[in-house]
Amino acid sequence: MEEIKSIQWFPGHMTKTKRKIESQLKLIDAVAVLLDARMPYSSCNPDLRSVINNKPRLVVLNKCDMADPTQTKRWLELFRKKGIAAIALDCKTGKGLNAFIPMVKNVLSDRIRAWNEKGMTGRTIKVMVVGIPNVGKSSFINRMSKQNRAKVEDRPGVTRGNQWFTIGKGFDLLDTPGVLWPKFDDPGVGERLAFIGSVKDDILDTEQLSGRLLEYLRDNYAEPLCVRYKLDKDDIKDLQGYEILEMIGRKRGMLISGGEINTERAAATVLDEFRSATLGKLTIDKAEDYPDVRI
Ligand code: G4P
Repeated sequence: MEEIKSIQWFPGHMTKTKRKIESQLKLIDAVAVLLDARMPYSSCNPDLRSVINNKPRLVVLNKCDMADPTQTKRWLELFRKKGIAAIALDCKTGKGLNAFIPMVKNVLSDRIRAWNEKGMTGRTIKVMVVGIPNVGKSSFINRMSKQNRAKVEDRPGVTRGNQWFTIGKGFDLLDTPGVLWPKFDDPGVGERLAFIGSVKDDILDTEQLSGRLLEYLRDNYAEPLCVRYKLDKDDIKDLQGYEILEMIGRKRGMLISGGEINTERAAATVLDEFRSATLGKLTIDKAEDYPDVRI
């Protein structure tokens, strides 16, 4: 099945956000880059490095409750090998969140030591949270501020409307001022973001999309795919995605009048079950395919 071509999933461009972030950078000590643990490469904004410049940073792999734990471990190892601090957590159950503040303090250890030497012990640490839409920024900030959204008063030099949140004594988070879009020009990235539902389904051909997903799952996660839809690995090994989709529709009795298979319904089922992790904890961007990842 052919790769889905150039999905125009988000309008606009980066200039405005870039400017807004740049104006806030001097107020913060570090940047927390939220990525989707199921696709740490595809969910990364391509301009991020130039936007956050040389600020200390750490990667937060969110939604790890839905990602393949083996892959999440490999991604963490890869980031660490590259000298980039990284943690995995999920905002659904709160697992892993406790490691966030210690990790930031570790990233900033030299600065904190310097502050202490200057008598600035207990200086508030300020971290900007960035990430593409839907990656879980609000959920993360909500969780970290323990649901009570303690909004910090306007600060000198900070314009009204900035989203500051206190998440602990001497620790503030700043929501991203502006929107960081994912990659526009890479159809592979667009397709993967569509798999997880970051692109509205009504602008997509869902049968084609689920066909592509099924081919990926057949090649990488045949076991959970076959168990879920009662398929035989050998039967699907040479099939096109659309043919696997038809097989699933037939097995599930999804028929329309005349006995034709309702592939649209089958496609919606496959996408839903993948997105809700009913199909299992599955990762789309594999760490071994991105040895040169940079943040
Ligand atoms: P954003 O600010 O970056 O745009 O993302 P937001 O927090 O709004 O989260 C986007 C969706 O992802 C939400 O689902 C949210 O519940 C879900 N989400 C965030 N973090 C996690 C996580 O760690 N695990 C899982 N499984 N889901 C997570 P939604 O369907 O848009 O809304 P709702 O389900 O909260 O009603």
